[in-house]
Amino acid sequence: MPIRSATFVMSNSDVSKCPKGTLPEYAFIGRSNVGKSSLINALCNQKHLAKTSARPGKTQLINHFLINDNWHLVDLPGYGYARVSKSQKKVFQKFITQYFKQRKQLICAFILIDIRHEPQPIDREFMKWMGTAEIPFQIVFTKADKISPKTIQSKIEDYFKVLAEDWAFFPEYYVTSAEKRTGLEPLVSYIEQLNKTLR
Ligand code: GTP
Ligand code: MG
Repeated sequence: MPIRSATFVMSNSDVSKCPKGTLPEYAFIGRSNVGKSSLINALCNQKHLAKTSARPGKTQLINHFLINDNWHLVDLPGYGYARVSKSQKKVFQKFITQYFKQRKQLICAFILIDIRHEPQPIDREFMKWMGTAEIPFQIVFTKADKISPKTIQSKIEDYFKVLAEDWAFFPEYYVTSAEKRTGLEPLVSYIEQLNKTLR
């Protein structure tokens, strides 16, 4: 089922102030500039629902969007772009980790990865942190329009070869382009399937 309606609910930096209630929730997370907000806009077929920018660090808060009147999509700030001291560079912003630890409504997170890049230490660390925290996640490759279709499969294979150093088995993955609006349908279908299992 496609996304028929998407509306902004609220932004805040405090997980305890996020929407109450039991609607299932799905969060997009990943390095700054990977395309989290753009992908949300593409999925929702709206240009300016989530704020985007060519400069990293655009999304600063936890943003809730109500989808099809029955689930939430959450746009989070990126990690790994630290306008902070070097010693803090590897530290994920505190309210990101608090969000994942405390948000009971979260069903699954999507960790976004720029398909052009080799596995980055901060993404591998974040995945391990999610594993330790027992938070289910899947991988969404972004910006697929930036490489030739022929190289997509080998890029993904190379990526998972490295991840095999950390994981015995892999999550599902999706290949998307917000720019070209490709790979969107499988992602929404997966969420809708999960929603059905919750009813
Ligand atoms: P932060 O909020 O800063 O963490 O970034 P973000 O992950 O939300 O990224 P955002 O959606 O703001 O996009 C960052 C830049 O990447 C923007 O210039 C987008 O236009 C560009 N971008 C996002 N998705 C795509 C894509 O699928 N293809 C291409 N070519 N560019 C993209
Ligand atoms: Mg953003």
